[in-house]
Amino acid sequence: MSEQSRIDELRDRRAQGLLGGGQDRIDAQHNRGRLTARERIDLLLDKGSFRELDAFVTHRTTDFGLADKQYLGDSVVTGWGTIDGRLIYVFSQDFTVFGGSLGEVHAEKIVKIQEMALKNGAPIIGLNDSGGARIQEGVISLGGYADIFLRNTLSSGVIPQISAIMGPCAGGAVYSPALTDFILMVKNSSYMFVTGPEVVKAVTHEDVSFEDLGGASVHAETSGVCHITSESEADALYMIRKLLGYLPQNNMEDPPYKPTRDDPLRRETALDSVIPDDPGKPYDVKDIVSLIVDDREFYEIHEAYAPNIVVGFAHLGGHAIGIVANQPMVLAGVLDIAASEKAARFIRFCDSFNIPILTLEDVPGFMPGTAQEHAGIIRSGAKLLYAYCEATVPKLTVITRKAYGGAYDVMSSKHIRGDVNLAWPSAEIAVMGPDGAVNIIFRKEIAEAKDPVARKAELVAEYRAKFANPFVAASRGFIDDVIEPSDTRPRLINALEMLSNKRDTNPAKKHGNIPL
Ligand code: HXC
Repeated sequence: MSEQSRIDELRDRRAQGLLGGGQDRIDAQHNRGRLTARERIDLLLDKGSFRELDAFVTHRTTDFGLADKQYLGDSVVTGWGTIDGRLIYVFSQDFTVFGGSLGEVHAEKIVKIQEMALKNGAPIIGLNDSGGARIQEGVISLGGYADIFLRNTLSSGVIPQISAIMGPCAGGAVYSPALTDFILMVKNSSYMFVTGPEVVKAVTHEDVSFEDLGGASVHAETSGVCHITSESEADALYMIRKLLGYLPQNNMEDPPYKPTRDDPLRRETALDSVIPDDPGKPYDVKDIVSLIVDDREFYEIHEAYAPNIVVGFAHLGGHAIGIVANQPMVLAGVLDIAASEKAARFIRFCDSFNIPILTLEDVPGFMPGTAQEHAGIIRSGAKLLYAYCEATVPKLTVITRKAYGGAYDVMSSKHIRGDVNLAWPSAEIAVMGPDGAVNIIFRKEIAEAKDPVARKAELVAEYRAKFANPFVAASRGFIDDVIEPSDTRPRLINALEMLSNKRDTNPAKKHGNIPL
């Protein structure tokens, strides 16, 4: 055989591999309104940067007539490439081959790049589109999943792991994405559930569609499983590229610096009038965020889930930060179970990957009521508290208005290692709001007064003057400074730079026991 014919054979095999399950199945994939595994990789990575691995792997199963059905590369495309010039590992399940189902070699291919990503300290992105465990391979498939779950867990907190759900993701297969840091879903095209509609019908007699059981909207709004929803696959891939711009390659690095023309000394006079005169009136904390951060750019995570707290990434003076902000527009910004868990998970992500945390605080407290108490607000609130206490990254806090009760302690207070704690003059820092406080401590006096309504109003005014301001806390040093709102951006950038060499550690331990 001449050298040329060997090269021709290589080229033939490669061309065959590129076709996956064949042109008919590629057409069927397009007809479902979906891209193929390779088209997704092309959109995700920098042009021409993809280097494929294991393109000639084939399955080893002979049962159920599979011996005759061999596809080069099997049902997943794996390899590495770059995004904005930075190394990334990727796997993309190929629905055109056995419905993207996961058998022995499919799992081996994923495990191989998981191990490379961990060893070489670069993010890994999984593009999921699969019928789940390959039925013909039985328990071998289940073992393959477990091998992946283990690597997901070992990689957690070491390299960023991102999952995009591009089609079906069912059964135990959902647990690999669930172990990763961020899940993106495509509206009306992707779904995730542990048991599908047919099993649901058999067990609970519920009639439910794929979309209503585990579509993007359900997971973005109700379960909180999905962090980002996209209108299209291309949009989801673009959102992954953007997300990576805020993240370091691994836990030993800092996030990339993003140069900006936005003046670090920019004062924003609009901030001086954001807080309404009436302390009971809401305002949109996202207005504050966009006035403070570089170029007004805020990358929100979990936008539709627990909107009473807002979390996401931004840059301040070119430095990536994570923002946690109570949202007075929704439920007055109260902390409930969903909000506590949403914020706790985000804080832990930021702390794992050296991303400083800015907390914007305006919170009336934890949500009262039997529904929340019985569902475990104590445990969930403790998660948020634990996450803030444990975090050693730079922590900046700005109290814009209410900081009442336990919520004052929880939201990155000085006492739990807040590094720079600032307050606006509108801050009210107290055990509870003036109305509630007066009702409790002056109940008798109000009841016995000639004019109870007038007496209560007097006492509320007295309490407000005494406690509902930032100066009592500032006189104790619990607040480092009271600032004019318009100075917030320059003050935060200055604080961030002051903290750029911060070193803080927790006691040596195997791991803590966060109240799960
Ligand atoms: C082997 C599979 C497969 C699977 C699909 N295919 N799922 N082959 N194992 N799990 C094959 C089909 O036979 C078909 O092959 C091709 O993929 C495309 O499938 P279609 O059914 O034609 O596509 P569509 O109508 O779009 O439906 C997609 C689907 C459906 C909803 C995903 O295929 C389906 O319900 N599959 C089974 C899902 C499932 O129950 N998986 C097990 C989950 S339990 P041909 O040759 O005709 O093109 C699990 C446990 C994991 O995963 C545990 C981990 C701990």
